Amino acid sequence: MKLFVKKSIQQLLASANEGEHTLKRTLGAGNLIALGIGAIIGAGLFVRTAAAAGGNAGSAVTISFIIAAIGCAFAGLCYAEFASIIPIAGSAYTYAYATMGEIIAWIIGWALILEYALGAATVSISWSEYANNLLGHRIPYEWCHSPMESIITNGVSHHGIINLPALLILLLLSALLIKGTQESATVNSVIVILKVAIVLVFIAIGWQFINPANHTPYMIPADAKPVKLPDGTMYSFSSFFTHGWGGVVRGAGIVFFAFIGFDAVSTAAQEAKNPKKDMPIGILGSLVICTILYVVFSWVLTGVAPYTDFMKAGKEASVAYAISHYMAGYAWLSTLVTVAILAGFSSVILVMLLGQSRVFYTMSTDGLLPKVFSDLHPKFSTPYKSNIILFIFVGLFAAFLPESVAGDLTSIGTLFAFVVVCVGVMILRKKDPNLVRPFKTPFVPLVPILGILICAGMIISLPGRTQLSALAWMVFGLIIYFAYSRKNSKLGTAGDILPTATDFEKK
Ligand code: ALA
Repeated sequence: MKLFVKKSIQQLLASANEGEHTLKRTLGAGNLIALGIGAIIGAGLFVRTAAAAGGNAGSAVTISFIIAAIGCAFAGLCYAEFASIIPIAGSAYTYAYATMGEIIAWIIGWALILEYALGAATVSISWSEYANNLLGHRIPYEWCHSPMESIITNGVSHHGIINLPALLILLLLSALLIKGTQESATVNSVIVILKVAIVLVFIAIGWQFINPANHTPYMIPADAKPVKLPDGTMYSFSSFFTHGWGGVVRGAGIVFFAFIGFDAVSTAAQEAKNPKKDMPIGILGSLVICTILYVVFSWVLTGVAPYTDFMKAGKEASVAYAISHYMAGYAWLSTLVTVAILAGFSSVILVMLLGQSRVFYTMSTDGLLPKVFSDLHPKFSTPYKSNIILFIFVGLFAAFLPESVAGDLTSIGTLFAFVVVCVGVMILRKKDPNLVRPFKTPFVPLVPILGILICAGMIISLPGRTQLSALAWMVFGLIIYFAYSRKNSKLGTAGDILPTATDFEKK
């Protein structure tokens, strides 16, 4: 059946290995871990930790991080198997095309738009928060917030109109991508060191300012006093996902965002010196290091400031807020942290925009999206038209959505892709048991099933409006698939060998 037409793995590998421009195998386990950390630490830690603690998990956001990490570890083991079988510069989209057929690949590609495009939008909104903080809140509220947000200050109500700083950073980084500036390994390493250093410095200094009273009770009690939000409405902790274990699980869905990006390691499989050994170390190693940093960091953050603050004035640029309000004498640290965070966010946005244009590029060369997404710039050899369309698309979300809405949608799209990758491993084991698997996911089907259960649990815990929006997005995607992509698919209509993402490097 054409809907389930598959790319053959042999064809994928053959076209990945041919030609003189094949990517060089230069990355060791250490480089892969650095790559992972570079893509991982960002708005999830510096913005969403406080959001999850404030509204749902309290200090037990530390447990939320552990739950999200376990889900990622199971899915990561499945990613590692695919990455070792199909070690090309691909993603879950490529894996699904090879194992589960075109329509599933389309669904994944469509969900990945939520991960990369909305992820970039989310981090740019967070960038705007910290940039405004650095400027001493000189940008008027109206010009750095979504129309869905409002605040009451001194009895006067302000409504957001458009988030201009978020648009600005997206514009700058899109221009950089069009020019084809490759993030060199050195730049990435410097940013990784900066990000990890700032987390460690905050932990070391903040530890002395922990007030044990802020950690008691550890989870939010059902009868916690409602808090008044900046827009004047009251937030109650009485419903299931806003206190106790329910709150911890929704907290996991919220902070899951902080782990997005570790799958970026799998896209570098083609450049790994020894994918069999290094891919799992790269994927799981970066996950383990980030989990430890996240748990300790969130323990300190919720110890320094009471969780209720993060629903009020401390909602934005929460780390800088906690330092300037509760760590007397460390104003310099607040500024330093903010500058480092802005640099860190920029690199995450860049990776996400790059990832998105690469997925668009592959889908376009497969005929599932119009050719405009794979047209290359005559001088820079970058998919510039795709970058411009992407800027407009991501920019619309960044300009008009609040961080929480964009972030939750990103999480749900990624969780969905993870579930499909877990299912894919089980299907491929049954359909093609003799395929050479340099790395094998241990304990199949237990590991993929646990991955599916934990990721599905986080999907269910996210707010109903996020689930509905994601569903609407997927329905919209299927309409496009049946109206356009199915008829234009090169594989579905011809069945010949397809160009792959590596052709991107070749051109
Ligand atoms: N994990 C990345 C972040 O937290 C997406 O910004």
